[in-house]
Amino acid sequence: MGPQPQDTLMELGKRYGNVLSFRMGSQLAIVLNDYEAIKAAFSEQADVFAGRGGGFVSRYIRSGSTGKTHGVGAPQGNTWKEGRKFMLQTFRDLGMGKSHLQESIIAEANCIADSFINFNGQPFDPSPFLFSGAGNVIGSLCFGKRFEYEDPSFRRILAGLGQANVFKAHVQPLQSYPWLRFLPGRYRKLWHTVKDTSQYLLLFLRNIIEEHRKNYQETKTRDYIDAFFHRQREAGTTSTEVFQDEELLQNLRGFFTAGTDTTAITMRWVLLFMLHHPKIQDCVHNELDQKIEVGRRIVLEDRAKLPYLEAVIREVQRLANIIPLGLPRTNSTETILLGYRIPANSIVFPNFKSVNEDATLWNDPQTFDPTRFLDRNGKVHEPIHFMPFSIGKRACVGESLARMELFLLFANLMHRLVFKAPPDEVLPATNERITFLASGPKPFSICVFPRSY
Ligand code: HEM
Repeated sequence: MGPQPQDTLMELGKRYGNVLSFRMGSQLAIVLNDYEAIKAAFSEQADVFAGRGGGFVSRYIRSGSTGKTHGVGAPQGNTWKEGRKFMLQTFRDLGMGKSHLQESIIAEANCIADSFINFNGQPFDPSPFLFSGAGNVIGSLCFGKRFEYEDPSFRRILAGLGQANVFKAHVQPLQSYPWLRFLPGRYRKLWHTVKDTSQYLLLFLRNIIEEHRKNYQETKTRDYIDAFFHRQREAGTTSTEVFQDEELLQNLRGFFTAGTDTTAITMRWVLLFMLHHPKIQDCVHNELDQKIEVGRRIVLEDRAKLPYLEAVIREVQRLANIIPLGLPRTNSTETILLGYRIPANSIVFPNFKSVNEDATLWNDPQTFDPTRFLDRNGKVHEPIHFMPFSIGKRACVGESLARMELFLLFANLMHRLVFKAPPDEVLPATNERITFLASGPKPFSICVFPRSY
């Protein structure tokens, strides 16, 4: 497939149609190569295609001490279904998609901006600050705590997430042939990295859970962990499958990993696009100057006033394609999809990149043009085939949080700062990417200046 499988599959799709298949070890893989195919599977046969794919390594990461998989990342079943419902309700109660959470996101935006300003216009890599900010937002929701960006254990966890992202890209043979881990060489080394990073993250989360248990108060809901403890007490026992301790641990792992690098990588793309398109950066600044008072922080209620800024975020998501082949799904039963027979338990990849670059859906798809997300009244308009968070029963559970974060981070950073490319460095192109699980731009440096009004 090469280093950019989504591109290879997109090309193959032009020759062989919108539903492709190939073998991955002993499993049949299906690629949904356009909007019609993704909709037909994830939306029209939502229950059939609601499984989560993944082989030996994914099972290891999601398993508890008994070897059973737990948490929202589990392949299917009641614990996934109920756990997902509980998470959505709890995040909503804690403020996801509402103004309650915004204080912690704005605080992170300011912390990132202050860290950027400390470089006094000299080039630096913005990535670690974006990862720390995104990690702290999901951390404050899940365990009511933020970490200083220099905190050594937090840095190690974030470095582990980066590593996990890299190994997941190379791990496919181990997923299908677990015995490879016993052979000296590449796969044994990879397996040790998987185990070490996974164990370290679980230890970090277990300590946080234990700390919470000591300070737990029935009348307070500080975060997701407290809400989970309440449900365990209500049930009168921890034996209810959905509210077992292992579920709590694996859910925290899932939220923290799924919620940190996706948001941080999207923000890296946002900054890279701003460096490549200074005129578009000017347009965002102009809109902010017209609609928001100087020095005022930007809150969620300002969204409707800033349609151009909102459109920029969407256009970056369209071209950045940060999860180009989605997270693999499976189908629980044999089915017919657009005339093709799909055997049960196939592994199913939606090719979001081919939808986002489909010339029948987007005018001049390779051009970075935020105005495609504005209607003729200048309001934000999202076509139905724009689906950065996927669709169907396993669509991203963090969508509202992620949308809120991207808006508040980008708007507050842009209101305070100007971003420029370092004069002596060549920027990576916006169509160059490193594809791991979440696909980021190549490393780049940035120069940041406070805005002068
Ligand atoms: C820009 C940011 C984000 C993007 C682009 C994104 C995208 C996605 C995508 C494409 C999927 C796969 C859905 C499918 O299989 O159909 C997914 C799943 C998931 N996302 Fe996100 N996500 C983002 C942020 C977050 C955040 C902040 C959280 C925090 C809770 C989160 C939690 C999850 C979880 C738990 C799943 C698995 C859901 C399941 O299997 O039921 N994501 N995300």
